Amino acid sequence: MEITTKQIKQEVEKIIPEIIRIRQHLHAHPELSLAEFRTSEFIRSQLKSLDVDILPPFLKTDVIAILNADNGGKNVTLRADIDALPIQEQSNQIYCSKNNEMMHACGHDGHTAMLLGAAMILTNFKELVDGSVRFVFQPGEEIVAAGRDLVASGALEEPKPSAVLAMHGWPGYPVGAICSKSGNFMAAADFFKIKIVGKGGHGASPEKTIDPLLTASKIINSLYLIPTRKFNALDSVVISIGKIMGGSNANVIPDFVTMEGSVRYFGKEVGEKIPEYFENVIRSECNYSGAQYDLNYERPYIPTVNDERVVLQCREYVKDFIGEQSWVNVKNPVMSSEDFSYYIENNPGAMFFLGLGEGWPDLHTDSFDFNDKALKNGILFLVVSTLGLLKKNNRV
Ligand code: NI
Repeated sequence: MEITTKQIKQEVEKIIPEIIRIRQHLHAHPELSLAEFRTSEFIRSQLKSLDVDILPPFLKTDVIAILNADNGGKNVTLRADIDALPIQEQSNQIYCSKNNEMMHACGHDGHTAMLLGAAMILTNFKELVDGSVRFVFQPGEEIVAAGRDLVASGALEEPKPSAVLAMHGWPGYPVGAICSKSGNFMAAADFFKIKIVGKGGHGASPEKTIDPLLTASKIINSLYLIPTRKFNALDSVVISIGKIMGGSNANVIPDFVTMEGSVRYFGKEVGEKIPEYFENVIRSECNYSGAQYDLNYERPYIPTVNDERVVLQCREYVKDFIGEQSWVNVKNPVMSSEDFSYYIENNPGAMFFLGLGEGWPDLHTDSFDFNDKALKNGILFLVVSTLGLLKKNNRV
């Protein structure tokens, strides 16, 4: 690959102006989760000129294309997310969002543009592609975790991937740096709602009531003991209740209380145990007080756990083909979550951060913008990693 690396770099260099145009076009026309109709239409129109098979959508607004579909051999799957957030952009750029209260504040415009770039380069160097490549443009990453539905709908079944990769632009790292670690990389996020139904009454005669406030307070205490008494300190389980509603008067015990909160953790086994512990705590406290309860516990984001071999291989490709200084070993996982976790739940794969610059505005803020200077390394990374991972003698 030594000779062609130079050619690949030149080709990437050549398409950068076009990729920047695409990125800024996407930025100007953001669409919210599962309503990415114009975005997916645009992606489709870009892919049409390339030598790939475009599949019919699995959900409504996903676009999946395969290069060398009939090639057999290994498959590398590359995933970008395409949706935007309900935020009003603050920007003076000419490509500022044209859609009210919609903004690419998580850089998915950059992810989409880079994946289109990788598709252009890989189809160009088709003879070097020793297997097939699946390009996944995924809708609904924010809030709805549509990646889970896409994987469940069989989008990754034929062919089965030997490796799945994704990149996320990340402020705080040097521009164009490729950053990752093996194992736990991004946290799982669970969300819960609890309704405690008691029997209201006069504040002067609590013995005649079933006080849902007292039951709720005991439940909070018991739930907050789960991390320290049911899990190892290193499991990093965080339970937080962020909303409690109940009662309206100083001297009236209310009929019911509602509580909402979230749970963060790393480790699949840990996550599988938590809903049961919740149920046990709430049931026993309600049994004691005589209250009824309703627990709604959802687990939209499982932890993103990177495959060690994939990370180590890709680190070698970065060092060999992009430059030693472009690789950053990430020390600690982050507490934010990603539905890419579902792609690599049962397939080897990894998520990588792409440095957008130190001091760059944070993700999910109204002043965020993808850094176009990072696009080149992002595309290069996707291309050289794909070619490397597809090689027959590769262990992945
Ligand atoms: Ni994102």
